[in-house]
Amino acid sequence: IIITPDEFKSVSEAAREDGRAPDEIRPLKIEAGILERADGSSYLELGGNKILVAVYGPREAQIKKLQRPDRAVIRCRYNMAPFSVEERKRPGPDRRSVEISKITAEALRPALILEKFPRSVIDVFIEVLEAEGGTRCAGITAASVALADAGMPMKDMVVACAAGKVNGKIVLDLSEEEDKRGEADMPVAILPRNKEITLLQSDGNLTQEEFEEALDLAIKGCLKINKVQKEALKRKYGE
Ligand code: CDP
Repeated sequence: IIITPDEFKSVSEAAREDGRAPDEIRPLKIEAGILERADGSSYLELGGNKILVAVYGPREAQIKKLQRPDRAVIRCRYNMAPFSVEERKRPGPDRRSVEISKITAEALRPALILEKFPRSVIDVFIEVLEAEGGTRCAGITAASVALADAGMPMKDMVVACAAGKVNGKIVLDLSEEEDKRGEADMPVAILPRNKEITLLQSDGNLTQEEFEEALDLAIKGCLKINKVQKEALKRKYGE
């Protein structure tokens, strides 16, 4: 097979298994308010990820120890369905889901006006129905839409997207395959309006320059995803 230098360039620039450009996210779909019985809910698809979020509250904390006299408390539970991954996941919490639940609450908290609801609790249930890499970010993005759908007063949305390094190249929104093969994966969550960072994790190694490039790219990804969050809420509530 003979290919021209131009063809070679376009193939090597695509460079990603699924043909995406380095700064391209996977196909994304978000819907707000799809569960009748929850106070707020959302459904998100990002590439092969399928995630459902239900929000309850703010409501009075039943457990006294949980109550804060001056504000509400946010609790998150990230859960993977047994059928969500290639190898059946054992039901129930494990180290990974406990960690993701914790960082999700921390990523969402700065956006919420918790002082309005003393002694209350807000519960966020993130159910991963199918996973294909980047579920913590997708869960945070979906949870923020579900919180808005619940009518929770917020300073801004929270939106998350990972950037990382695959085959020496900085790329946006790694797939499971890229995460496995790649050199680094860096999930980032921000409040899009002032770009305050509410989550920054990193798995793998990046130089200072690569880190800065990845952070810029992740923020750009977040801003694209934020548009889709806003469209989902507009579809449900109008302007
Ligand atoms: O999902 P995220 O990238 O935020 O977290 P991760 O711990 O880096 O996991 C990456 C991917 O590995 C997940 O999205 C799943 O697709 C997959 N995974 C799996 O196949 N089985 C598990 N028990 C956990 C994760």
